[in-house]
Amino acid sequence: MESYTDTTDISTSQHAMELEYRYGAHNYKPMPVVIQRGEGVFLWDVEGRQYFDFLSAYSAVSQGHCHPKIVDAMVAQARKLTLTSRAFYNDRLGECEKFLCDYFGYDKVLMMNSGVEGGETALKLTRKWAYKVKGIEPGKAKTVYAAGNFWGRTLAAISSSTDPSSTNDYGPFLPGYEIIPYNDLHALENLLKNDPNIAGFMVEPIQGEAGVVVPEEGYLKGVRDLCTQYNVLFIADEVQTGIGRTGKRLACDWEGVKPDILVLGKALSGGTMPVSAAFADDEIMLTIAPGEHGSTYGGNPLACAVTIAALEVVQDENLAENAEQMGVIFRGRMQELQKQCSLIESVRGKGLLNAIVINDSEDSSTAMDLCYKMMEKGLLCKPTHGNKIRFAPPLVINEPQMDAACRIIEEVFLEMNGNL
Ligand SMILES: Cc1ncc(COP(=O)(O)O)c(C=O)c1O
Repeated sequence: MESYTDTTDISTSQHAMELEYRYGAHNYKPMPVVIQRGEGVFLWDVEGRQYFDFLSAYSAVSQGHCHPKIVDAMVAQARKLTLTSRAFYNDRLGECEKFLCDYFGYDKVLMMNSGVEGGETALKLTRKWAYKVKGIEPGKAKTVYAAGNFWGRTLAAISSSTDPSSTNDYGPFLPGYEIIPYNDLHALENLLKNDPNIAGFMVEPIQGEAGVVVPEEGYLKGVRDLCTQYNVLFIADEVQTGIGRTGKRLACDWEGVKPDILVLGKALSGGTMPVSAAFADDEIMLTIAPGEHGSTYGGNPLACAVTIAALEVVQDENLAENAEQMGVIFRGRMQELQKQCSLIESVRGKGLLNAIVINDSEDSSTAMDLCYKMMEKGLLCKPTHGNKIRFAPPLVINEPQMDAACRIIEEVFLEMNGNL
């Protein structure tokens, strides 16, 4: 508890943190700030201090906190009908499925809740397709992942993880997985051409949790071509990169490629409730028959109402275009800062999914110290993998707000660097 006591002496925040520590599992170590309210790009703590949110709940709150259109849709639907399960039809699901298929250009969609369930759905679809369509011998299908991947915390997801903090003491893991380096088309081709049992390659167009790792231009196009050539499904995990975050509708749109299975989550509901979805055309989606996959809450009417509103906001407010423009400003400012600041090793990202790599070892506390100082000055963000700080504000951020936020970041880095 000592890390809490020296950060704030105000009793209400302190009390909230102590309650969590006393009664909640210790599976997270949050920054010592207790948020009570959010609006747009801003958050307020229980003592009324205002912060820029530069994490957006790991890119889920792209439309800004408590967007009135999304909240209105949610409240109106909540007063009418929230859950039927899929034992019955509801009058919102079909409408939402049509909206989603038109928006992203697929024959069909399967709605789930969390991002990891979206990924799991993609994996199950891939295995069904492997046996029923590709003709792989029962029980032999394999799926490929890139080192550094992150697609959630279930056993299926961590079975592909190369991060020991995700896997330690959780074995045994799921079989049928192959891991290759990220951003390496030769490794992918080598595997695909030598193993006829490969059914799919699941990959993030930019690796988010690994520290915003952007592959070389042409990587996604290369993946698409190899998967087509070897009759392997290209599964794009766009849970973090999708829905405008990188400056396009999907990160795959940067290279004009269409994955065979697309997984979305997070911003699909604008940060109001867990909603995820796996998209595919009929040949893949119809391999799953009634009773073979599902979820009590998947495709519930409340999720449907919220999802349509959240995607309309992205379109109506041109959030992808804004992400692109604000991202250029952000990286430009940070690259200028890098010139004066030896603490910064590199600045990378696309749209409003960016990271600064700190010039210090992965196990140093420098990135965390910087985040604490930014918090004190009114900007919230968090390190990922030790020495990288991710900066992912809501996509509704405007230019004056971006300027004010950059000034906080610049001041903190220059101070820590010893320039001020
Ligand atoms: C790329 C990616 N896929 C999947 C997930 C898992 O989503 P969830 O935490 O909603 O299960 C995440 C979460 O950070 C993610 O970044």
